[in-house]
Parts: sequence; C-alpha cells; structure tokens
Amino acid sequence: MTKISNNINETREIISKWKSQNFSIGFVPTMGYLHDGHLSLIKKSHMENNKTVVSIFVNPTQFGPKEDLSTYPRDFDADRQKCEDALVDLIFFPTAEEMYPSDYYTYVNVNYLTNNLCGRSRPNHFQGVCTVLAKLFNIIKPNKAYFGQKDAQQLSVVKKMVRDLNFDLEIVGCPIIREPDGIAISSRNSYLNKEERKAATCLSQSLKLAKELINNGECKISFIKNSMSNLISNQTLAKIDYIEFVDLNNLQPIDTIKKSSLCAIAVYIGNTRLIDNFII
Ligand code: PAF
Repeated sequence: MTKISNNINETREIISKWKSQNFSIGFVPTMGYLHDGHLSLIKKSHMENNKTVVSIFVNPTQFGPKEDLSTYPRDFDADRQKCEDALVDLIFFPTAEEMYPSDYYTYVNVNYLTNNLCGRSRPNHFQGVCTVLAKLFNIIKPNKAYFGQKDAQQLSVVKKMVRDLNFDLEIVGCPIIREPDGIAISSRNSYLNKEERKAATCLSQSLKLAKELINNGECKISFIKNSMSNLISNQTLAKIDYIEFVDLNNLQPIDTIKKSSLCAIAVYIGNTRLIDNFII
C-alpha cells in the first residue's frame, strides 16, 4: 500500500528506515494531476530502485504573479489512486506552510542557464523550481531523481544545480511522452477546449518540420525558424512566445545546426502556454 505523508519529519523517518535497510530511493517530483508522462518516470524509478517516492506539491514560488497558481489543476484522490496502481511506496504531499513557513528566507539561483528560453518569459520561475527541489532532495535524500525531457531547460538547470551544489544524487532525464496526434502530454493540456486542443498540434508539427528540414541538410537556423513560425502562425489560436535553437551544454543560442543542440519552443494556445522540444 502507498504511504502518504504531509509532514517533513515523518517523511524523513520513513526514508531513514529504508536507508538503514540499504534500500535505494528513486524520486519523482511532481505538481500532481498525474498523467502518462509522470507514470513513465515512476516506471523507470521502479526499474532502477528499491523504493519509489512521488512528491505532489504545487510549488507557489515557481509561479509568477500573473500565472496560473490558483487555477493549476489539482486532483489528489485521482493522483493517490494512480500512485497506488503504479505501486509507489510513498507520496510526499506537503502543504505550502510545511514547505515555506512564514519565516522562510532562502532561495537557490542557477545563473546563466536561466537567462533565456522559459527563463526570459518567466522571471524567477527557475529560482522557485531550484529552491523547492533543493528542499525536496534534502528531505527525500534520493539516489536518483527522474525528470521529463519536455521541460528541457528545467532538466539542464537541475543537473547544473546538483553538480554545482554537490548534491549526492543522479538526475535522470526521460523521454517526452506524446498523445497519438503528437502533442506532448502535460497537466496544462487540461486547460484546452476542443478547438484549442486541435490547434495545439501545431507545436509538435513545427518540430517535425524542423527535423525534416535538418534531415534534408538545412543548416541555417534563421530559415528553419521562419518555416516553423509560418506553420504555427497558420493557427489563429496560436501566439509564439519563442522558437530557439541553443547549445545543449550552455543553453546559449546558436546560428547554425550542430550536434548536441536543442530546438525548444513555447507557444500560447489561447491563454495556455505550452512548451515542446527536440534534441539534435
Ligand atoms: O516539473 C514540475 O512539475 C515542477 O517544476 C517540479 C520539478 C515538480 C518542481 O516543482
């Protein structure tokens, strides 16, 4: 049976007991509203560890003042059932007060890697992500933590934080899980109405187009970006936030295609901001 704890001390006691039995701990941090993407991370954690812990916490510090913190989808009962079915050993489900008491003052910043892509349109977002993950890593003390490649910048930033601050764990990146029509699975897809859901396929279609152009020998990023932008702009419901090609090692823009680069996009479909990417 899946244990549930919303208390940091109790969680620590459970984890200590497992560690004393030499169990390895796999950790899947989430904001809940679990979907097949999360379940793929849980599956991978099961394959590689004795115990799997899932955190469910809609982290207020990673949302901007005009973002969707209050409307972010939540359904703990459904999440608990999915965790039971996926044989998760422990759900850590803290309150905001448990994680950020009123005298909370400490934040973690990864510079440079957070200057562009989502970091540009969402100032302080990665500070919130890194802060909560630093806390969660200290509470859960996992051997490995699992992240989806869909949030490519998050994955790079978290890897960097772990290296720079000498956290004793391995960050494992896992492939993007897609719906049959290509759309990357995300909790925010639940905001889309039928028309928007259809329009949202323009993200993965534009990435497919970029891949085709690259496979046919196109190296000029300005040309590829224009072609992607034209495809997305055909959708009246779509508004491009960014289309970027960056070096995967430092997330800085590149102007010709090379190995180990990342093509990342963010597009508003109506009011919903969606992201997607592929690695070259
Ligand atoms: O990717 C997410 O769902 C969140 O950013 C994370 C990693 C759980 C931190 O709140």
